[in-house]
This record gives sequence, structure tokens and C-alpha cells, in this order.
Amino acid sequence: MKRSFYAGSTAVVTGAGGGIGRQLAVQLAEAGAATILVDVDAEKAGETRDLVARTGGKAVAVVADVTDVGRMAEVAAEVEARVGGVDVLINNAGRLYYGGVVESEPSDFDAVMRANFGAAVVSTKAFLPAVLRSKQGRIANLSSAYGLIGLGGAAPYTAAKFAIRGFSESLRSELRSHPNVAVSCVYPGGVKTGIAWSALAAAGVDATAAAERFDRQVARTEPVQAARVILRGIAHGHSRILIGPDALLADTVARIAGGRYEQLIRLIVRG
Ligand SMILES: NC(=O)c1ccc[n+]([C@@H]2O[C@H](COP(=O)([O-])OP(=O)(O)OC[C@H]3O[C@@H](n4cnc5c(N)ncnc54)[C@H](O)[C@@H]3O)[C@@H](O)[C@H]2O)c1
Repeated sequence: MKRSFYAGSTAVVTGAGGGIGRQLAVQLAEAGAATILVDVDAEKAGETRDLVARTGGKAVAVVADVTDVGRMAEVAAEVEARVGGVDVLINNAGRLYYGGVVESEPSDFDAVMRANFGAAVVSTKAFLPAVLRSKQGRIANLSSAYGLIGLGGAAPYTAAKFAIRGFSESLRSELRSHPNVAVSCVYPGGVKTGIAWSALAAAGVDATAAAERFDRQVARTEPVQAARVILRGIAHGHSRILIGPDALLADTVARIAGGRYEQLIRLIVRG
């Protein structure tokens, strides 16, 4: 049998307590990686660790807010001392947000940028030295289909996910002189996780109605399938990893229609 890319590696997954992150953890462990599961929610991180252990995999759960620079420096030092290195870093932690420019305050933009873009930056800075030392290092950042196109109603989230895309592409270019390391940016369309129910929201926005709409109309891909595509893309060192037909559509339409993609998308969605 072909040896998995991940066999014998050490992988850090942020936001591993649920959704896509949990499936990434399980599949990484199945592929032979030792996993470090970082989540702000102790109970959820523990559940993922137990799930990995039940399938015979190796996992350590670490409770940390990945936007906290000091805490993440501690976590990186702890991992260094206990495990000695990191090969794969998946910056998956993030929060959805409901609200456009009109209803969002500058403080909402700050909070959403921090929860998504900030999380990827802080975690990357903490683990980059370790990944650079790996023989086959990988960094993957979770953007979104909202990192490919901007539609109304989610400007702070869209801006944060576009920022993750710019950060990833810049880092990839910066690391050209490190052929042992590849950087991927992941663009999922709607995935069936609990993300809609822990979303941040602008004042006055009905978050429950928005979450119900998300589950009904947006979430299409199973997290198991999303994790499979992500791990395959990371192993191959792909710079862009698209998840689901909706992300594929967003990417294609943005390329074909250029500045007029919004009209084309509205036409397609209306049927
Ligand atoms: N689900 C989707 O439809 C979808 C679509 C596009 C992009 N994404 C992105 O994929 C990533 C994972 O999404 P998901 O749907 O699995 O989300 P989820 O809400 O199901 O799980 C996210 C996990 O991250 C943890 N987390 C959040 N902020 C954290 C922080 N600051 N520090 C530590 N842990 C934190 C949460 O506790 C939770 O366990 C996110 O970045 C999200 O923006 C998701």
C-alpha cells in the first residue's frame, strides 16, 4: 500500500473542536499523523481527542484562543518541548458573521477580522519556525467562497476571508526559497457544520433566521468530504483548494465575468 504523505508527521489543527476541523483531525490521525488539536472550547477539543483516540490515533487537545498572541507563543513552545516539531499547520479556526456594511460598526469589522484573519496570522507566526524546519512542511489557511467573491450582507466576513487569501498568497511567495514548505489557501462553499449557530452578528440582524437560512440554502458539502479534499490538496502542495460545487462556481464566474460577476451569479441563482 502507498505510504500516506501524513504518516509519521505532526499536525496542528486550530478549531479542531468541531465541524471541518474535527474531521481534519480524525482523517489526519487515520493517515498516521500525530495531531495537536487547538480549540478555545475545552469540552469540544476533548471530544475530538477522544474520537481520534477511539480510532487508534494519537492526539493532544490544547485549549487556547488562537487570536491570543501570548497564549499561542506558549502553545508553540509547549509543542516544541513535548513533540519537537510541526510538519503540518492547518489554520482552520474562524467565525461566521451576519451583516453588511450598512448595519456593521467599525468594531464589528475589527472583531470579525480578528476572529478570522487575526487567527490565521497569530497561529502562523507562532508555528512558522517549526514548520520551516520540517522536511515536508505545509501551512493551510481556511478562507471561503467569500474569499473569492463579494456579495451583499457579509462585508466584514468577506473582507476577512479575502485578507486570508492575500496573506496566504504572500506567504507562499515569500517562502519560495524554502522548497520543503508549501502554503495552501482553502476556499470552501457551504459545509454542513454548526458554524451558522456560533456566528457573530451585527446589532439588529436576526441571527437565528440567518442561521436557519444558512443551513437550508448554503450548507451542502459534508465535513468528511471537505476534510478529504483539503488533506489531498495540502499533501500535493496545491496553492488553492476549492471545496464543493458552489466554491467552484464562484471561482469560475469570478474569472469569466471579471467585474460583472455579481450579475452573472444572480442570474444563475435565480435560474
Ligand atoms: N462551514 C462552512 O460552510 C464554511 C464555509 C467556508 C469557510 N469556512 C471556514 O472553515 C473554517 C471551519 O469552519 P467550520 O464550519 O468547521 O466551523 P465550526 O464553527 O463548526 O467549528 C469551528 C471551531 O473553531 C473553534 N474556534 C473558533 N474561534 C476560535 C478561536 N479564536 N480559537 C480557538 N478555537 C476557535 C470553535 O470553538 C469550533 O470548535 C472556518 O474558518 C470557516 O470560516 C466554513
